[in-house]
Amino acid sequence: MENLYFDENDRVDGVAKVTGKATYFAEYQVPGLTYGVLVTSTITKGKITAIDSKAASNAPGVLGVLSYWNKPSAPGYEQSGGSPMKIFYTDQVFFNGQPVAMVVADTFERATYAASLVKVSYEKVAFNTDFEKSVKDSSAKKLQGQPPYVRGIADAFKTAEVQLEQTYILPIETHNPMELHGMIADWGVNDKVTVWAKTQGVKSTQATIANVFKIPQENIQVNSEFVGGGFGMALKTWPVEIATVMASKHLKRPVKLVITRDQMFTMVGNRPAAHQKIGIGATKDGKITGITHTAFGQSATYENFTEGVVNMTKFMYDSPNVNTNYYVVPVDTGVPIWMRGPGEATGAFALESAIDEMAYALNMDPLEFRAKNDPEKDPAQNRPFSSKYIKEAYKIGAEKIGWSNRKNKPGSIIDGKWQIGYGVSVGVFNAGRGRASVKGILKADGTLLLQSATSDIGPGTGTGMALIASRLMNIPVDKITFELGDSSLPPAPSQGGSATLSTVGSAVNDVCVALKSTIAELAANSNMDATSNFVDVLKKNNLPMIEKTIQSQQGAEAKNYSLYSFSIHFVQVKVHQLTGVVKVSKIVSVGDSGKIVSPKTARSQMIGGAVGGIGMALTEEAIYDHRYGRYANNNFADYHVPVHADVPEIEVLFIDKPDPIINPMGAKGMGEIALIGFSAAVANAVFNAMGKRVRSLPITPDKVLGA
Ligand code: MOS
Repeated sequence: MENLYFDENDRVDGVAKVTGKATYFAEYQVPGLTYGVLVTSTITKGKITAIDSKAASNAPGVLGVLSYWNKPSAPGYEQSGGSPMKIFYTDQVFFNGQPVAMVVADTFERATYAASLVKVSYEKVAFNTDFEKSVKDSSAKKLQGQPPYVRGIADAFKTAEVQLEQTYILPIETHNPMELHGMIADWGVNDKVTVWAKTQGVKSTQATIANVFKIPQENIQVNSEFVGGGFGMALKTWPVEIATVMASKHLKRPVKLVITRDQMFTMVGNRPAAHQKIGIGATKDGKITGITHTAFGQSATYENFTEGVVNMTKFMYDSPNVNTNYYVVPVDTGVPIWMRGPGEATGAFALESAIDEMAYALNMDPLEFRAKNDPEKDPAQNRPFSSKYIKEAYKIGAEKIGWSNRKNKPGSIIDGKWQIGYGVSVGVFNAGRGRASVKGILKADGTLLLQSATSDIGPGTGTGMALIASRLMNIPVDKITFELGDSSLPPAPSQGGSATLSTVGSAVNDVCVALKSTIAELAANSNMDATSNFVDVLKKNNLPMIEKTIQSQQGAEAKNYSLYSFSIHFVQVKVHQLTGVVKVSKIVSVGDSGKIVSPKTARSQMIGGAVGGIGMALTEEAIYDHRYGRYANNNFADYHVPVHADVPEIEVLFIDKPDPIINPMGAKGMGEIALIGFSAAVANAVFNAMGKRVRSLPITPDKVLGA
């Protein structure tokens, strides 16, 4: 029957998602399932001296209590210490809320009750969770996060005609997707393990488990068909997932762990806090002569984390002199992890705020200032960009938001008690492509099945892949199935760094090309017309199906180009004169990310990035109480994410021109650029509205009204 409700732009999994048919890891019904609940450290730093689990073990329904005291078998963890943290193989406490024991019972409620009976004794030592204080403390440990970079003369801004130097602060942000983290693990006979995971990479989860338990990868089946939001936190197999596998092996039962919302703040990563100083120098007529970017990022004492905070500064503007330095500062907190636009989103807040400040210092329109310093070639690598249409993006975005209504003098537009301002910022992210394999099975019933062990954390991977195949094969989208999230399928990288469409999409392209050429050969051999339908060709040859598996990767041509996706975000804000409340009243985001393969899901990506950007700009901040080394707002009542009332209509525009170099589709990734730069656009708009420059996120009313 014809499906009246589907057009080719719709998500292939849309109906499954909105009807609840899509199954997420925690929903799998595994016979004999048991439930794990974590006991977490109540001190911030020190040593566990004893764990009294007698009462918990005797509580109804309890099957076991796992901890350092019984070290459930994990051969890869036998040497203690080192990174990553080896759960239940260390008696050290590195951060508050660290998992120190897991109680497993026949029901979740019984496990929860029994976990409350576990008594842990500690020996406390002094701790430090205060990142900002450590940045300023010259005796605090600082590690080089990336080698220092110098192009031309270091600190050249100091001799420029017009100079500016400012400090920009970002707090900890947490991913907090709707779906809580966790895993179901089922360690079966002959060391065959099945897990239902929340992961951005089924192959990487498989490899990590193989490594910790010293069993062959082929023994481990990882399933993760649907993921309820990742944003980077599920790019790593966390200690609590290892603990779940350990528990299943130890108890010979399937075990499910789903962590609580407050545990989402402590044990599965966050966007690290950052402290950045930017110096910019320019000539009076607006040519940048020097940029210096010094960044400090938060890390943990027990495990290091670095990201590309200063990357964009090296090539975004055409300055003969650029120097960057990036350090990480370890404190006694859980280790950070990538979070959407990792590094660049942090760096862009500082750089794009400073660029705006310089435009005002020069009395120039910030768009004009950017255009004047836009490099033709990548100045860091001294080679062309594979494609870059940022000036066109400036133009169409400016027109859409009504940039001509903006006044360069702050505080010029007033509507009752509201002051109105406009801001702009650019974003950029690496558009590199990895290596992936895809199997294609073309069937005589007119359908095409594609398989790859990639993931979909929400952007609509299956939809994009089906569209690529549909156009090449001339098969309707509803006759194409793309299977993912299964480690037994042909290998593909984790979904991260905005690379899936380019990486896996290229393999889909290549497998379709291979299938088509086989069909053409079969047609020729059976004296059929070269344009014959594949169904007829297969039938004529008595073949129920043909299949091909192709591995695909970037060719050498890309070596001579810099591969980046770009974006530009325009916002209009209203700032209340008396309360300092900031409302984002209009948004126009423009993506310069090559050819758009899937218009509807691409637009959704940009909308999601803008909503995340509103949170980053105005509300999101995970706050430590440094007296106790604990979060003070580890819940959705106190950690504020944008709600519908905070989000205006979002206009999304795309350049939509194919990149000639990057891949056969000409499409560049866009998950990260949707967010990168957005928070600076808001800060810049607040300045334009009020004349108040807020250099620390989030831009809360106290900062807007403060001195
Ligand atoms: Mo993204 S931070 O690469 O999931």
